[in-house]
Amino acid sequence: MNQTIDETISLETKKVDVAFSSAYRLLHPKQVVLVSCIDSTGKANVITLAWCMPASIHPPLLVISIAPKRYSHKLIEEAKEFVVNIPAMNLVKETLFCGRRTGRKHDKFKETQLTPLPAKIVQPPIIKECVAHLECRLHQQTTTGDHTLFIGEILAAYADEGIFDGKYNIHKTKPIYHMGGDDFTTLIPEITSPHIELNRNGK
Ligand SMILES: Cc1cc2nc3c(=O)[nH]c(=O)nc-3n(C[C@H](O)[C@H](O)[C@H](O)COP(=O)(O)O)c2cc1C
Repeated sequence: MNQTIDETISLETKKVDVAFSSAYRLLHPKQVVLVSCIDSTGKANVITLAWCMPASIHPPLLVISIAPKRYSHKLIEEAKEFVVNIPAMNLVKETLFCGRRTGRKHDKFKETQLTPLPAKIVQPPIIKECVAHLECRLHQQTTTGDHTLFIGEILAAYADEGIFDGKYNIHKTKPIYHMGGDDFTTLIPEITSPHIELNRNGK
């Protein structure tokens, strides 16, 4: 394997301690999602989340991690349904807004002019301007320190035509990645597909 300049430098680079309070940011940039949820009257809210990941393929489960002080925490706990919407870079301002304002005081759909559209199965709306949507029903929740993991069963999943064919077409959509604070980045359209030899067991 070719040794790149970066690898040569890293052999001589000193390791510097990172405070526990920012250790999680060593796992960033993380793709950002906009989660829509509803209150008991059906009024919709949106929360920006960087902590979202797949949790199972069969059954299809994903997990979102939300601090109990967020308004959306209460809504998801009560309504037991939510939609994970995938924004692209054209929505980076709206994404920051939904992550810096609370639905207790703001109508985030109105103030961002994001458009709520009826979901296929669940009560919370999808966000029209997002490129993909995963409708979820709460499967299980568990407390982890100062966050709650909401595990959602994916009941419906769909994307804008032409941007997803088993994988995102990163020439056609620019997902938003959160670095930390108010800083975001995206992917450059470059794909590496390394070839590895398999032994007789296929391993
Ligand atoms: C880019 C970004 C990512 C965020 N990720 C999370 C997260 O993963 N979990 C969480 O609890 N809050 C996260 N937040 C904070 C919430 O989005 C924020 O507190 C929001 O205002 C809560 O809205 P709500 O009170 O209407 O639920 C994030 C904020 C930003 C800007």
